[in-house]
Amino acid sequence: MTPYYVTTPIYYVNDRPHIGHCYTTLIADVAARMHRLIGRDVFFLTGTDEHAEKVVVKAAENGVSPMEWADRNAGEFRRAFEFMNFSNDDFVRTTEERHKSRASAYIQRLVDSGDIELGDYEGWWDVSQEEYVTETVAKEHDYKSPVTGRPLEKRREQNYFFRLDRYAGWLEDQIGSDTIRVLPEARKNEVLGRIRLGLQKVPVSRRIKPGDADWGVRMPNDPEHRVYVWIEALCNYLTVVDTPERRRWWPADVHLMAKDILWFHAVIWPAMLKALGEKAPRTVYAHAYFISEGRKMSKSLGNFIEIDQLRAYAGKYSLDALRWFLVTQGPLGANDADFAYQRFVEVYNADLANGIGNATSRVSNMIAKYFDGKVPAPVEGAVAMPSDASMDPKRTASNVSETFTKYAGAMQMGEGLALAIQLVTSVDRFINETRPFSLAKQMDKGEHPDPARGRAELGTTLYLCAEALRIASLLLYPAMPEKMAELWTRWNCRHLVDPSDCNSAFVAPLVELAEWGGKHGLQVGQEVVKGDALFMRADASEPAPG
Ligand code: MSP
Repeated sequence: MTPYYVTTPIYYVNDRPHIGHCYTTLIADVAARMHRLIGRDVFFLTGTDEHAEKVVVKAAENGVSPMEWADRNAGEFRRAFEFMNFSNDDFVRTTEERHKSRASAYIQRLVDSGDIELGDYEGWWDVSQEEYVTETVAKEHDYKSPVTGRPLEKRREQNYFFRLDRYAGWLEDQIGSDTIRVLPEARKNEVLGRIRLGLQKVPVSRRIKPGDADWGVRMPNDPEHRVYVWIEALCNYLTVVDTPERRRWWPADVHLMAKDILWFHAVIWPAMLKALGEKAPRTVYAHAYFISEGRKMSKSLGNFIEIDQLRAYAGKYSLDALRWFLVTQGPLGANDADFAYQRFVEVYNADLANGIGNATSRVSNMIAKYFDGKVPAPVEGAVAMPSDASMDPKRTASNVSETFTKYAGAMQMGEGLALAIQLVTSVDRFINETRPFSLAKQMDKGEHPDPARGRAELGTTLYLCAEALRIASLLLYPAMPEKMAELWTRWNCRHLVDPSDCNSAFVAPLVELAEWGGKHGLQVGQEVVKGDALFMRADASEPAPG
């Protein structure tokens, strides 16, 4: 099994989590689950970035120590991620010893190699973002933070610097040749454009002033200086797997984040790794932003979608419906996406209530009614298959495993999940075309000229539909693990995962699981229990939850 390592940014603990943090972590969760399904040996990491100055400020405002404040919010992140049913293999906090000690050791190595050196610095410091901005950017934004609009501070200090300038040629080559894939493509061109303008040394430390809180990692060679939080935070991706048991996961297959922090991940971090003699990530993926009901989310508008609102959606429509909406309608590509209630209901009804939910109910009801709840035997040639491939469930299901694997590798979550929707649609069309309801009615009334042939036709139709839906459910699982595990319990496909734990490992890789009529396929005579609709229809005229 080839290893697969996916990471999210580690989130600041100055505040509570919101939809944006959940979104990125959800995409990583779906990527992790897709790769586990394919049969890769997955490690999925998320966590919190705790040594920022704004944590000290927030803690003071709330009359607690930075550590207490960090504990409180790290707990909020953990709880939010449990609620979202994320399958992360670890949760790192940068205040943990395992992170701090290894991060210090890497920094010492960079000092030893001459990649970090002492120098003077004067520049515009963006307090809210914990970073220096260049004179050009500062001027362009009227000396205010390009992100938050708060005034920039002029800072002058003796700092340690990372010699990013040494790596311009190497970075241009790696990114240009897709050795480090920067996705989406639009982002890659932006990054390359900026590299070509020239790279400067990056400040990596600050001198500790009297009265400063003791918060952060000190320069190992010079404890008067504190390591700039970004430089230490990036190290988390390596510190967590830098053990004999976990080394096999290095380098990361995907570092995932939003575009705000792409530069750190696509440029500074790979250069640091090169200087350390470590391999660079294979893919750096920067998605766009979620906005709320058409407006950018901001503190001043007070329109952040908070965890409580997400809980209200999950309470009303199920957690998996929320996951589905976020992953299929979210800003995974280069464009922002809107979290809007009306759109939620539309997608929910189309894909879930009237889609997979309705199709599985229809098919299990007919199997219950006409075949005593047992999977009927397909008979070769009993059904005239439609010439249009999109109406033919069996043809639609062929090669799904290969196509799904390709999409998963390219972080095209939506496209991968759309393969399942196509299967569900093919089942609907096939039912509309072959009309098993009418056939059954005709037989009930004794009007069918050849009852044995009629029964073979009905049984074959239902078998084809059920087997296609079983395969669709596998592909839907990474987005909706609980609902699909529920379906597998009803359909007696429980051997796919442990019924008491919908997050347990699969018994075989997708290519075997998705084999039509194969060892893991529906077996003739297997019991299929009908149950309540997996997704109740939603009414858009009701008020939005939360
Ligand atoms: N601590 C740094 C990251 C260090 S990684 C070594 C940081 N933290 S953050 O808490 O500000 O998280 C930023 C990330 O949160 C974004 O890159 C993105 O993944 C996620 N999002 C925050 N707001 C978002 C939206 N409105 N929409 C989508 N994702 C968003 O930066």
